[in-house]
Amino acid sequence: MDQGMEAKLGRVVITGAAGRVGPTVRTALSGDADHLVLVDRESVTADGENETAVKADVADIDALVRAFEGADAVVHLAGLAREASFGELLDTNVQGTFNVLEAARRASVRRVVLGSSNRVTGNYPIHHHVFPDEPPRPDGLYGVSKVAVEALGQMYADTFGLEVVALRLGSFEEEPTETRHLATWLSPGDCAGFVRAALTAPNVSFVAAYAVSANARRFWDLTGGESELGYRPVDDAARFAANFADDDPFWHGGPQSGAYAGADAILPYVEE
Ligand SMILES: NC(=O)c1ccc[n+]([C@@H]2O[C@H](COP(=O)([O-])OP(=O)(O)OC[C@H]3O[C@@H](n4cnc5c(N)ncnc54)[C@H](O)[C@@H]3O)[C@@H](O)[C@H]2O)c1
Repeated sequence: MDQGMEAKLGRVVITGAAGRVGPTVRTALSGDADHLVLVDRESVTADGENETAVKADVADIDALVRAFEGADAVVHLAGLAREASFGELLDTNVQGTFNVLEAARRASVRRVVLGSSNRVTGNYPIHHHVFPDEPPRPDGLYGVSKVAVEALGQMYADTFGLEVVALRLGSFEEEPTETRHLATWLSPGDCAGFVRAALTAPNVSFVAAYAVSANARRFWDLTGGESELGYRPVDDAARFAANFADDDPFWHGGPQSGAYAGADAILPYVEE
């Protein structure tokens, strides 16, 4: 039996269901959730009696409360998944996550899984093995917004008893497309495994965990994912290593986020 396959998941809401990660999560949960509620500001089509589609913006907290009524858990993936202006990131990622957590509290949802990002620690150097409880070191404004996302989750867990898992997703791709992915790849199968574990792990208050495949070259520790969520990833980007140059400058040093970090990556989004 696959890891975690025995658990029944109840009624689960997926925000950002129309995005890149959403469909993988939807497919992974469809067999074991009693009902899936698919929320996005873009249109999503419900498939059969076990799904409901809700077109809503995470800015609309009342719509979120209505969508969350009766739900056991929310997987929150809606947001800006890239560098952007600070105002856009505050609105969509920070205010949007506050609205999701607050709507979950009002609707008495038990658990929320937050789509966080490895970019909360993207400025650690590549030769540093990062544990999830080390101080944040965001590589840009997007990373800062995810630090705030995690802080909101921690506060809702401590203050209101909401069970919160912040999954610091690696690079979600069918297969690695750039050198950095040899360290950061998150395969669709492992993504599904981490999300299922985040929904079913017992005794959760607040957990922050890297969701990354078992890449031989990874620089993030699996503490949290393995020990607290009970999921051990299975894929390894090493089988794609021949597609990339061994002496790529990425491996020589610099931030873990590579070209996604640094002034040149941020300044286009900073208005002067
Ligand atoms: N894809 C990755 O490799 C990766 C890595 C790290 C973290 N993440 C995080 O995982 C989550 C999902 O990522 P993704 O790659 O699927 O992103 P995506 O951009 O493909 O999808 C995001 C979805 O959110 C929806 N959305 C955006 N703003 C919204 C709003 N205001 N109200 C309602 N819906 C809104 C979009 O319509 C879209 O369908 C994001 O929070 C992202 O930051 C992704």
